This record gives sequence, C-alpha cells and structure tokens, in this order.
Amino acid sequence: MRLKGKTAVVTGASSGMGRDIAYYFAKEGANVLAVARRAERLNQLVEDTKDFDGKVVAYAADVTDKVKVEGMIDEAVKQFGKLDILVNNAGIMDDMSGVGDVSDEMFDKVFDINVKSVLFAMRKAVKYFEESGGGNIINVASIGGLHGGIAGSTYTASKHAVVGLTKNTGFMYAKKNIRCNAICPGGIATEIGSSEFMKNINQEGAALTSLGLALNPRYGMPKEIASVAVFLASDESGFVNGQCIQVDGGWSAYM
Ligand SMILES: NC(=O)c1ccc[n+]([C@@H]2O[C@H](COP(=O)([O-])OP(=O)(O)OC[C@H]3O[C@@H](n4cnc5c(N)ncnc54)[C@H](OP(=O)(O)O)[C@@H]3O)[C@@H](O)[C@H]2O)c1
Repeated sequence: MRLKGKTAVVTGASSGMGRDIAYYFAKEGANVLAVARRAERLNQLVEDTKDFDGKVVAYAADVTDKVKVEGMIDEAVKQFGKLDILVNNAGIMDDMSGVGDVSDEMFDKVFDINVKSVLFAMRKAVKYFEESGGGNIINVASIGGLHGGIAGSTYTASKHAVVGLTKNTGFMYAKKNIRCNAICPGGIATEIGSSEFMKNINQEGAALTSLGLALNPRYGMPKEIASVAVFLASDESGFVNGQCIQVDGGWSAYM
C-alpha cells in the first residue's frame, strides 16, 4: 500500500475528483478526513470505503468558513493522531464572463472558495507541519491556472492564484521538509458544470472559451486525477516540489 500510515485532509470530497482522491487514498492505506458541505455524500463515501485499510471520517463544512477550515486540520490530528497530507480540491466555476461582465458577488464567492479557503488551509497546515517535521500539500488548480482561454476571467484568475500559492510555498518551505504541488486537470467528467454560476452562463464568454474544446482529445475521469494525487501524496514523489502538473490527455500540449 502506497500511503500506509499516512493521514490526509481532502476538501471537496463529496463528488468528482475529491471523492475519488479520498477513496483511493483510503484504498492505499491512508486515513482521510473528507470535507465538503453535503454530509450525506460524505457519509456515502465512508460507507463505500469501510472495508479499506485506511479509514475515512466525514467532516461537513463550508470551506468559506475560516474557523471550520482551520478546524479541519485540528480535527484530522485529533482523529488520527497526526496530519501528513492536505489536499485543497474544493472549487467552483464562474459564469465564463470576461472582466467587463464580472459581478462583485461572483468574484468574491469564487475567490472565497477557490483561493481564500486554500490560503486558510495551507496557512494552518504549514504551521502544523513546521512543528511536526514536515508535510505535503496538493492543490487542485486547473490548466486554466496556466493558460488564458479555458474558462471565464474570474475562474482563470482564481486558479492562477492557486498556482502562485503552490509554487511560492514549494520554494519557501522546501528546507522544512514541506512539499507543495498542484494538479492542473483538463476537462474531467464531474459535477462542476452544475455549480451555481454555470446556471446563468455568459453566452459570449462561453462561445469564446469553448473554441479550445476542439483541441481536447477527450474528457478524463476523476480516477485519472486521483492516481496522480496518490503519486504526489506518496514518498515516490519525494523530490517533486513546487510543480504544477498538467493532467489533461494532451489538451494543453498545443498551448
Ligand atoms: N472538472 C473539471 O473539468 C475541472 C478541470 C480543472 C480543474 N477542476 C477543479 O477541480 C476541483 C474539483 O472539482 P470537480 O470537477 O471534481 O467538481 P465537483 O464534482 O463539482 O466537486 C466540487 C467539490 O467541491 C466542493 N465544494 C464546492 N464549494 C464548496 C464549499 N463552499 N465548501 C466546501 N466544499 C465545497 C463540493 O462539495 P459540496 O457541494 O458538498 O460542498 C464538491 O465536493 C475544483 O477545484 C475545480 O475547479 C475541475
């Protein structure tokens, strides 16, 4: 088992990539605190993984709540005795609009979930890892965090921010035995298309961003991201730090 004896926090574990990351972490022997708002989905994950070597514990929380986000790090330590891995995966899409049509409300909400929650969790975890002797952070960014035309301006900016936090942290804490990498997925078949701002999509922005879809070879499955997360969480990737790994079937190779 590749993660035997390790403990992890995974945000956005109620669906899509986060659910599979938590699932395969537990299958590989890690104890996992699974975080999201929908408790019933988390409870289902606990049920789905009950025969695995690693134990999954549900932690219902909105990641925009700083107290809850800091609390999830404490809760993992309380439940499992220590924390080795933090996966910041929770995220939502914007409405595909260019800057001219961005509402303050959407910008704040997307940044609260996609960026500020990541900062809250990393800040708390890094303090813990400094004292415990090391740790491992994996952020789920996007190829939209490296390129300009995949989504709307708000989502694009939010994922560029996650890439920045990742690279800076990988560099700043390397000598303290703390690694920080990002996975930058391409198109993955999940529920993200039903996130709230996608319900009232900006048609002009959507038409422009969809041009790139012609270059996408296929949609990936959440499991294909989870397998990269397992590698990054394991000691096999011990010298991989500060990297943003594009996992997109070759879509971004053109860009
Ligand atoms: N799918 C893609 O094509 C794609 C591509 C590149 C990057 N990504 C990124 O991959 C990550 C995972 O997305 P996904 O595609 O797997 O989407 P998804 O199926 O919609 O899952 C999103 C997860 O985030 C959680 N979440 C959203 N808002 C939250 C909040 N305020 N508090 C706590 N949890 C919250 C959701 O849980 P609850 O609703 O239960 O809270 C859910 O578990 C996101 O960061 C996304 O930006 C996705």
